[in-house]
Amino acid sequence: MFSRRGFLTAAGAAGVLAQLPVRANALEPDLMELHATVKAVQLLPPDYPKTEIWSYAGGTPGPEIRVPQGGRVQRRFVNGLPQASTVHWHGIRAVNSMDGVAGLTQAPVPPGGSFDYDFTVRDAGTFWYHAHNRSAEQVARGLHGPLIVDEKAPPDIDWDVTLVLDDWLLEPDGGQLYPDFETRHDRSHAGRLGNFISTNGQSAWTSTVKRHERLRLRLINASNARIFILALVNFEGWVMALDGMPLPAPKTVSGDLLLGPGQRADLLVDVTAGDGEEAFLARIDDNQGYAQAAFPVRGVSSSARRGSPAPLPPNPAMEVTGLETAEHLRLDMAGGAMGALRSAVLDGQQASFRQMAEANQFWAFNGTVGMTQTPLATVARGETVRVKVSNDTAFPHAMHLHGMHFRTVDADGSMGHLRDTLLSFAGESHEIAFVADNLGDWAFHCHMLSHAASGMMTWIRVQA
Ligand code: C2O
Ligand code: CU
Repeated sequence: MFSRRGFLTAAGAAGVLAQLPVRANALEPDLMELHATVKAVQLLPPDYPKTEIWSYAGGTPGPEIRVPQGGRVQRRFVNGLPQASTVHWHGIRAVNSMDGVAGLTQAPVPPGGSFDYDFTVRDAGTFWYHAHNRSAEQVARGLHGPLIVDEKAPPDIDWDVTLVLDDWLLEPDGGQLYPDFETRHDRSHAGRLGNFISTNGQSAWTSTVKRHERLRLRLINASNARIFILALVNFEGWVMALDGMPLPAPKTVSGDLLLGPGQRADLLVDVTAGDGEEAFLARIDDNQGYAQAAFPVRGVSSSARRGSPAPLPPNPAMEVTGLETAEHLRLDMAGGAMGALRSAVLDGQQASFRQMAEANQFWAFNGTVGMTQTPLATVARGETVRVKVSNDTAFPHAMHLHGMHFRTVDADGSMGHLRDTLLSFAGESHEIAFVADNLGDWAFHCHMLSHAASGMMTWIRVQA
């Protein structure tokens, strides 16, 4: 049933065991600098060549940045890359000038340049950072890392482990990144889907555990376009938080857990396998199970499991109120292959779908392709905003709002969980609501990054 293969098709290696378990999250000695460089790393198993990637501090994912709730993140981003870049702190309700969106909140940092990021974090939870200039290329090249904010009183667990899930499109010969990051096919279909899947930059991430240990798994989908379908094997546990925000009550994991690009989930899981067995975080692909992360069980930590966990403490000022008097917006997503879009506004002019395709642009929000000088909406600070998000395309999209979390408003008026990224499948429509309490210009885009680069990008202005 379960194969250790991290490969889907191209490289074809099977049965590869990983190196030693990594128990602690290694911290960079020079925490004050976040240095981006071109680097060759052993992404594929040891008998394969190294892969040249773009890295923060020499690895992929980049170093785990970890601060207490209410603490401060201070990093000098130093750009040692051949392209201009920025760093965005995904899911963080930071001040707008620190949001790291090239062309919207800051100028891109040129090669050889640097930029100082400095902000306090209000929310505890699992976040991540990644490049936000030419993201479809730069994130695909490896420019991302985890950002963990610890609760004041963390839950009672044995091990807190961050698992960054990524998907790479590699050339079968030589194992280098497929060098065209702007193919028409990826842009007009499901995005840049890969052929090699990694956990924390490894093909077969593994670590030993003991029976009845309780783990906190912080899952981060850092891939360009892949929707991970995950399941627990020989673990029992709960979803504690989604996109960094605690659920009001832990939700028992049963069946599959979907994680779209940009999304996170915090799980508490108990090892239920016996000594000598193995537990897995499994990935389901075409009805086949694969070991996304393997946990061989060696020993027993206690004779019984702990009791059910209490919920994580809620983050401050997250209530979505004022729904009745909210401003109503629409976000109609259209375009792509097999879609119904005939024309849209491209660079200020009505363009046929064919003219769009010639410009390597395929998607529109409300009939406009990509980011323009005009925001989707300008709202007053404190206002409640409802957005009807309709997916009139043949593909799933992962809509990410910067700077503020939202809740889905369900048909019966009840509210869904707080999220910063909404997974929307073909033909679906959702309503989301948020309180526009963060001043500034906030990107709102599809996190299938090839889609964002080919039309699915807009922004919302919150003004005083
Ligand atoms: Cu995770 Cu606009 O990004
Ligand atoms: Cu999309």
